[in-house]
Amino acid sequence: MTSPRVLVLNGPNLSRLGSREPEVYGSATHDDLVAACRAAAADLGLDVEVRQTDDEAELVGWLHEAADSGTPVVLNPAAFTHYSYALRDACSMRTAPLVEVHLTNPAAREDFRHTSVVAGAATGSITGFGLESYALALRAVAELRRSEETAR
Ligand code: DQA
Repeated sequence: MTSPRVLVLNGPNLSRLGSREPEVYGSATHDDLVAACRAAAADLGLDVEVRQTDDEAELVGWLHEAADSGTPVVLNPAAFTHYSYALRDACSMRTAPLVEVHLTNPAAREDFRHTSVVAGAATGSITGFGLESYALALRAVAELRRSEETAR
């Protein structure tokens, strides 16, 4: 049996983890993030693909792809979280669970980070646990899948 697929999509500047404001984001790199997602997915029996882009159009395109294929998404929209209505609209088209994640807790940071235009179109949000936010989000996706299967 093939494992269910999940897309982990990371927005702008997340490729810079490790060197980007380490006092805020810690020392883990994007490669570490990919490894953490793969390890969590393997434990949960999921097949994960992690992508990162600085480009809004590319991220919107990946969300279309996920909607067309019914693939669950774990999304860290990074700064797009706070102002991209295009991303929000793309999330609204989802056909499977979409979990918004953040490494930090935006509610505990600058005022402009307190608004997520994406949150209302997500299944739920997990924020503030560093790389563990991704593992928790993948676990949420696995649990949702399990309860959907039991309901069938
Ligand atoms: C972030 C929080 C955003 O406010 C910020 O713009 C990011 C990272 C996080 O994961 O904590 O780029 O999404």
